[in-house]
Amino acid sequence: MKKKGFIFDLDGVIVDTAKYHYLAWKKLAKSLDIDFTETQNEQLKGVSRVKSLEKILAWGNKSVSEDKFMELMALKNNDYLAFINTMDEKEILPDVPKILDYLIEVNQPIALGSASKNARAILKKVNLIKAFNAIVDGTNVSKAKPDPEVFLNAAKELAIIPQNCIVFEDSLAGIKAANNANMISIGIGNADVLQEADYNFNDFTEISVEFIKELIDK
Ligand code: BG6
Ligand code: MG
Repeated sequence: MKKKGFIFDLDGVIVDTAKYHYLAWKKLAKSLDIDFTETQNEQLKGVSRVKSLEKILAWGNKSVSEDKFMELMALKNNDYLAFINTMDEKEILPDVPKILDYLIEVNQPIALGSASKNARAILKKVNLIKAFNAIVDGTNVSKAKPDPEVFLNAAKELAIIPQNCIVFEDSLAGIKAANNANMISIGIGNADVLQEADYNFNDFTEISVEFIKELIDK
């Protein structure tokens, strides 16, 4: 069997942490008298913590000192981590284990490619850390998606050329990053938003083991 590199985004692909990001940002925005909606939260998917706060402040027409900015980032992350602490295996999105188990069974290299600095903590909480041969996250990339850096680093760690890598992503920035890396991109979520992906599925329940096998054999 051929070897392909399978790279998974974390938030919105393996677990639905967007709801926790939303609650933590909402609380922070409220403390600053900024209105923050779920629609705006959609625009923060795949966006780094720094960029997310910059956007929220811009939406609220607020500017803060550098110190205050750092303080706000820490406050948000503390609240977010309180939610993360309650997570367990039940929060893994449906049929993600089906695909991971199959990939492990047929010896395909698996990596995480996430913007989150909390990625390892989350993978530990949901007991999936052992499934990954490589983890590239917000602690070891300098350029945010749609820059391909995160996925190129993951491919390098798996020792698989980019053209033989397959990326699962729920954000448009992530799909663009995968395409920029010359990888096969698979959009998980709204196909209208993720039109640029090579393949689209609403979630992993729509992805069959046969489809994965075809990707490996291609
Ligand atoms: C991405 C999320 O995966 O990680 C974003 O989609 C989040 O919403 C980003 O802002 C950074 O995450 P963290 O955990 O480092 O704040
Ligand atoms: Mg995501």
